[in-house]
Amino acid sequence: MTPGHEVFAAGPGGFAATVSVPGDKSLSHRALLFAAMAAGESEITGAAPGDDVAATAAALARLGVAIDGGRVSSPGVEGWRAPTGPIDCGNSGTTMRLLAGALAGRPFETTLVGDASLMRRPMARLAGPLEALGARVSVSPDGTAPVVVTGGPLRGADIRIPVASAQVRSAVALAALQAEGRTSIDSPPGFRDHTERRLGADGRGRWVSATRFLVDPGPILPGRFRVPGDPSSAAFLLAAAAMREDARVTVRRMALNPGRLGFLEVLGAMGACVVVETTGNEGGEPVGDVTVTGGPLSGTAVGGALAVRCLDEIPVLAVVAGIAGGPTRFSDAGELRAKESDRIAATVGLVTALGGRARALPDGLEVAGGASYRPAEVDAGGDHRIAMAAAVAATAAGRVGVAGASVASVSWPGFREAMEAVWSSR
Ligand code: S3P
Repeated sequence: MTPGHEVFAAGPGGFAATVSVPGDKSLSHRALLFAAMAAGESEITGAAPGDDVAATAAALARLGVAIDGGRVSSPGVEGWRAPTGPIDCGNSGTTMRLLAGALAGRPFETTLVGDASLMRRPMARLAGPLEALGARVSVSPDGTAPVVVTGGPLRGADIRIPVASAQVRSAVALAALQAEGRTSIDSPPGFRDHTERRLGADGRGRWVSATRFLVDPGPILPGRFRVPGDPSSAAFLLAAAAMREDARVTVRRMALNPGRLGFLEVLGAMGACVVVETTGNEGGEPVGDVTVTGGPLSGTAVGGALAVRCLDEIPVLAVVAGIAGGPTRFSDAGELRAKESDRIAATVGLVTALGGRARALPDGLEVAGGASYRPAEVDAGGDHRIAMAAAVAATAAGRVGVAGASVASVSWPGFREAMEAVWSSR
């Protein structure tokens, strides 16, 4: 068992809460990276408080960028200095992959390492595209970190990315900004496009079709960015609302990037009432309020482009699916095995421990539905989203003990307090 045991207990009865959630993790990594690549002073407010984004900030500091709270002062990417020794990306795949892209244009060698989970994740997918631009990128023989990036002069190229990975596409874009000549990036459509939106807002990139993005190299300008709430964090509280017919949760000022909202489509298809109201825009990203009200739930099918739009939320969606009145099949989700843990195995284990029925498929999982969850003891397995999905299950199980629950701090250090405040709201 992982050490550090926490019990999550939800009382009976309905709840009704209006909350805000911490700043979006994906946007926070990018706000820091763009601020660090720009020469001058930038200001970021509301950045995600978790360990992952702290890893990006610490990595950038190693390259000579001054970061003080939300103030970032940088000589610009061309003034980054070679770090002494490897850079530790912690548990954060986004830090490792996006940084590898930004470093591809720098005339020095950098070694990127991480914790035990990150050192098992696939990194070879970065090497081909960055090498096609002119960098040297080496990974271990089994395709994992350490990632050694030897950057240098880059030349724009036509790059094809076969895997639906925002991290890989962002890495290529950050390298392409430093190349001589334009780069085109072809990738499957429909997943988060935060990097592309920011490049578009800065006049450095544009979509020419649903699958092709062009990057025009040149400097990034410093500026201000107010990070909206993280939909992947909000998903845990909104899923809890979906699990009780007398519950409602409203999340204010949440990032509404369409590539992030597949989980709302799934909750709606299962029978929850979902209302989305766009209230503004931040650096090309829509922002707004989302309300989920519980209702009688049925099973649904999640595959294709929809699976890509809700991949990070599948563990908690599977927890909801376990009590729905029919089976739910998650397919086209094989990438779940390459996350902070094997999330297919971990999610099947979680639903089963709660008294539900689930089985792994080669590209996803099937949850039988119709379960009455019972109090359970589970292990987070070192994965923040599994820890939080397990806690949410207490909405139906009453009580769930989670070994290693503190790993939630990777994305949301205050998760426990936020979850308990929702359960006790009236
Ligand atoms: C992220 C992209 C996704 C996602 C991860 C964050 C990002 O990973 O799962 O949590 O910020 O770009 P992939 O790019 O590997 O799909």
